[in-house]
Amino acid sequence: MAKLNFGGVEEHVVTRDEFPLAKAREVMKDETIAVIGYGVQGPGQALNLKDNGFNVIVGQRQESKTWDKAVADGWEPGVTLFPIEEAVKRGTVIQYLLSDAAQISVWPKIKPLLTAGKALYFSHGFGITYKDRTGIVPPDDIDVILVAPKGSGTSLRRLFLEDKGLNSSYAIFQDATGRAEERVIALGIGVGSGYLFETTFKKEVNSDLTGERGSLMGAIQGLFAAQYDCLRRHGHSPSEAFNETVEELTQSLMPLVRQLLHDCTARRLGLVEKIP
Ligand SMILES: NC(=O)c1ccc[n+]([C@@H]2O[C@H](COP(=O)([O-])OP(=O)(O)OC[C@H]3O[C@@H](n4cnc5c(N)ncnc54)[C@H](OP(=O)(O)O)[C@@H]3O)[C@@H](O)[C@H]2O)c1
Repeated sequence: MAKLNFGGVEEHVVTRDEFPLAKAREVMKDETIAVIGYGVQGPGQALNLKDNGFNVIVGQRQESKTWDKAVADGWEPGVTLFPIEEAVKRGTVIQYLLSDAAQISVWPKIKPLLTAGKALYFSHGFGITYKDRTGIVPPDDIDVILVAPKGSGTSLRRLFLEDKGLNSSYAIFQDATGRAEERVIALGIGVGSGYLFETTFKKEVNSDLTGERGSLMGAIQGLFAAQYDCLRRHGHSPSEAFNETVEELTQSLMPLVRQLLHDCTARRLGLVEKIP
């Protein structure tokens, strides 16, 4: 595991160089990964895992258009696509990717099917961190792990198809089998992560609620909506107001920030020669 110094603090980072896909496949060769939920993260993670050579099935409630979407994506009913409870029975790793609210309501049906040695996997630490309130209290004899891609399932899939990776954080809440670490890293590589950063469930929740749901999808959106409205009120045309806000942010500033951060991370990992 590489150690990187970020602002004077040493952090553990796993890269695909040190934990290649072949090793991830070897770790998971006897496992059946049941991806439960086919909303946003479900398709990205399930399709990337499948294309990476892992044994994947999907669990989705049947009375829904989402079932049809899974069929359209190539999952075969009764072979690789099952109702939720059947998929949980068949899986050895249960990737619990229902919406966070549905994770709470479906939990009573899932819990009895989590038999000894299975792994329960999340992409957000919410259900476990607030388990006193969500009721998601896992049995003691299973692993409980997390891989949280730092972006939407759509981006995860798009970057995978472009032969790139999206950074993810990973965490272990409970290691019952002694295999939680190799399982979580293998799955992180398998779903298409670029770099994997170590965290805890609690820190993931706090950073996600503050960063993604507070700043990125709350404050920034609010700031730009306010700027747009303000420019319009002062007589600017819609295109002028739009270009000064959304266009500049998404087409100029963000790609620049992304490139600078990418180069900086690559230099720290000694990958300078790989920067295009
Ligand atoms: N959105 C992201 O890109 C993103 C990024 C990082 C982490 N995460 C985390 O990943 C997890 C999944 O998030 P998501 O955004 O992919 O979820 P989502 O799109 O909101 O989840 C939808 C899935 O949940 C199912 N579902 C909803 N209500 C249900 C119910 N009452 N009973 C059974 N199934 C139900 C949906 O089936 P139907 O279509 O039939 O309703 C669908 O399969 C969450 O923990 C989230 O915090 C998400």
